[in-house]
Amino acid sequence: MKIGLLGGGQVGQALFKILYSEKETILNILREPLEIKKILVRDLNKKREIPKDLLTTNPEEIILDPEIPIIVELMGGIEPAYSYIKKALEEKKVVVTANKEVIALYGEELYKIARKNGVDILFEASVGGGIPIIKTIKEAMVIDKVKEIWAILNGTTNYILTKMEEEMKDFDESLKRAQELGYAEPDPSKDISGLDTAYKLSILSSFAYHTTIKPQHMYREGIENITLRDLLYAKELGYKIKLLAISKENNGEIETRVHPTMIPINSPLASIRGVYNAILLKTEKRGDILLYGEGAGPYPTSMALLSDILESAYTLLYSLPRYYSFAYLYPSKIKNYENFLTRYYIRIWVKDQPGVLAQIAKILGENSISISSVIQKETSEKEEKAEIVILTHKTNESSMQKAISEIKKLPILENWGSLIRIEG
Ligand SMILES: NC(=O)c1ccc[n+]([C@@H]2O[C@H](COP(=O)([O-])OP(=O)(O)OC[C@H]3O[C@@H](n4cnc5c(N)ncnc54)[C@H](OP(=O)(O)O)[C@@H]3O)[C@@H](O)[C@H]2O)c1
Repeated sequence: MKIGLLGGGQVGQALFKILYSEKETILNILREPLEIKKILVRDLNKKREIPKDLLTTNPEEIILDPEIPIIVELMGGIEPAYSYIKKALEEKKVVVTANKEVIALYGEELYKIARKNGVDILFEASVGGGIPIIKTIKEAMVIDKVKEIWAILNGTTNYILTKMEEEMKDFDESLKRAQELGYAEPDPSKDISGLDTAYKLSILSSFAYHTTIKPQHMYREGIENITLRDLLYAKELGYKIKLLAISKENNGEIETRVHPTMIPINSPLASIRGVYNAILLKTEKRGDILLYGEGAGPYPTSMALLSDILESAYTLLYSLPRYYSFAYLYPSKIKNYENFLTRYYIRIWVKDQPGVLAQIAKILGENSISISSVIQKETSEKEEKAEIVILTHKTNESSMQKAISEIKKLPILENWGSLIRIEG
């Protein structure tokens, strides 16, 4: 069986090597060799570990080749990847991709085109690197029901937060180190802003709840405003700060959000360090399921691709019926973010004078927000200001946003610090 690759970069080259080194095992599974016929690249002269005669700059040499029934898209970005995937499906080719952006934004449309043409689009590698999360949700949860997803889906931000907390390095220094180690892109904005996490959560939620959840419908905050002070306070209070992807289903209504979250130090996701990813599924019948592993990297990603390639090759070779999942079935009903219920951590600098706390407590009370604890940690006598940390009980987002805008207008406020949601 012959396959074509659109992209011969980091993942393309790793996949090429794995297909070569595992060719005997693959032959045993498929009872037929699996070969890469052509690989699309931009620059034929770039140094890479792929024989030059396999390379082409013409996508049609792959997409229109009748000898190639499976196309593996590894270019990244939206265009031209989206158009090539669409064209390949219309040409009745099975598509395997690692492209989270295309799947998060156009998954429903591409899935429907695939079904109309009697083929499939598989994207295990688009979320969680080598962690088999899509197959777990798609195949294992057919009769069961996923009720909640709690996940760390971005290795870059988890590395930065771990580095800040464990080595007392500030955000910029930790980001620089992540870039030096190749854990962060030269432009890390999609990771830092939580957009990468939102893409991945949208894919998982669409599968888990059988609907279409788009990243643009999600409440999202990144880690750019998390400071060392917040991480230290969190530690002292028995928490860690993680960029969490959270989604919940309740009577058909879906709550989805991505934001830095304080979670108890002994909770399973709190122990996920560095570039690792973890996904906690809360299910109706099986209870909690935790998957943990390398969330990126060319080799783990290639293993996820290989499992999709083998599945589709086997189906095609032995004319087996295709097993479609239940994603994208129902219209989505997304919960308004103003109705989210959670606890909050507030850190502010105020004038060091009597009656300050009473003014803040009054605003919180008027907005039906009850305080669970207050810490006045640091005072700067020279500047006559004090730092206050307030933890609240559960309250809704709209009350909190209203209270914050009122606190920000108080003359006793010196500097706004942070607002971090607390879960668990
Ligand atoms: N790297 C990881 O650890 C990882 C992990 C999970 C998922 N992914 C996903 O896997 C995909 C590939 O990632 P990667 O790291 O391998 O990217 P990469 O190293 O940048 O490789 C991209 C490849 O696509 C080719 N390409 C890009 N645009 C093209 C165009 N317009 N026409 C022809 N060829 C084009 C490039 O050609 P040239 O080589 O000639 O420039 C290159 O070979 C992305 O969707 C990424 O999000 C990557």
